[in-house]
Amino acid sequence: MPNTQVENSVTLPGIQQKYKLQLDKTNAIIRQQMSSIAPQTQTLVETLDKSRGKQLRPLFCYSIFSGFQNESQEVVQLAAVFESIHIASLLHDDVIDKCQLRRNLPTMNDVYGDGVAILLGDLVFVSIYQLAAATGQMWLVEEVSKTIKLLVEGELLQQQYRFNKDTCESDYKSVIYRKTAALLELCCYATARSATNDEVNSENFKGFGSSFGLIFQMVDDWADFCRACKEDNKDRGVDIANGILTLPWLLLLENSSGETKEKLLSIINEGEPSGLTDPFVADLAHKVELNTLMKNKVLELKKDAERSLEKLSNFDSSELQLFLNYIVDEFTKITDAQ
Ligand code: FPP
Ligand code: MG
Repeated sequence: MPNTQVENSVTLPGIQQKYKLQLDKTNAIIRQQMSSIAPQTQTLVETLDKSRGKQLRPLFCYSIFSGFQNESQEVVQLAAVFESIHIASLLHDDVIDKCQLRRNLPTMNDVYGDGVAILLGDLVFVSIYQLAAATGQMWLVEEVSKTIKLLVEGELLQQQYRFNKDTCESDYKSVIYRKTAALLELCCYATARSATNDEVNSENFKGFGSSFGLIFQMVDDWADFCRACKEDNKDRGVDIANGILTLPWLLLLENSSGETKEKLLSIINEGEPSGLTDPFVADLAHKVELNTLMKNKVLELKKDAERSLEKLSNFDSSELQLFLNYIVDEFTKITDAQ
């Protein structure tokens, strides 16, 4: 499959441009697999066509194939499996989180109500398995099942810890590993295995996927906290409104005591959107140097991801390094915009 190398491939839009042909094919596969007589499906397809998001999972897939100098056609189908898992999970997630806006467009639950949004998620859920089965690789169907189970468990654990002030960082990490990092881990592992047919060595790709995924979710949680109640391309400040104690909140709790901690807990227990826009929270964040605490967590994981990349042999990991730089830059941008 021809790749048009563009000069600006060091940025995410550059990588998206480089793989435009493959992205178009993957999106066409997803669209075709989702087609249905139900008119609501057309609205979902049109919404996705208007605003696709970053499409990191398919991009990981193309990058890994290209890092092995493998240009097989099956990569676009594999990417469609991963992107469909992402789409189905977000349809259900927006119902659970009661969100009205995603990628600057109304969510399906906002347009049609929760029932239809869940059913649309189910429809995409079925298409994941149809796409995976069509590859003829039984191991892929098994790996997809294991990963989706992790996603569901992540969401269930997140519900279990709602409004629980005794939640600790390792609880948080076990949630975000399952709900977000596991899918990126699958993208890396399954793509390497598909490109090389080497089950054992493909295991080495999991480390990068999981560290990247943990950073990715931390950055999303940081944006929710820093941009709380501000206009953005999706609802912000909703984590704490739903009682979800993300890392910024856990670090504030860990570094406060007495009356300050009591006041913080009362904000948390209100069940309203909140974050840095609250003057008390902003003042506390400043006192405990929350930016530095968060940055250290992100940089620790960046090191883990880089160590995983060093272990990959006979593979050009330069593009995966670019994805890593991109996500760490996103963290810095959010922090600098405060
Ligand atoms: C987004 O988190 C949610 C996820 C990464 C996973 C959601 C998983 C499920 C609902 C389980 C069901 C899965 C399938 C495949 C049907 P977030 O709310 O922190 O991110 P956001 O800010 O983008 O909403
Ligand atoms: Mg959500």
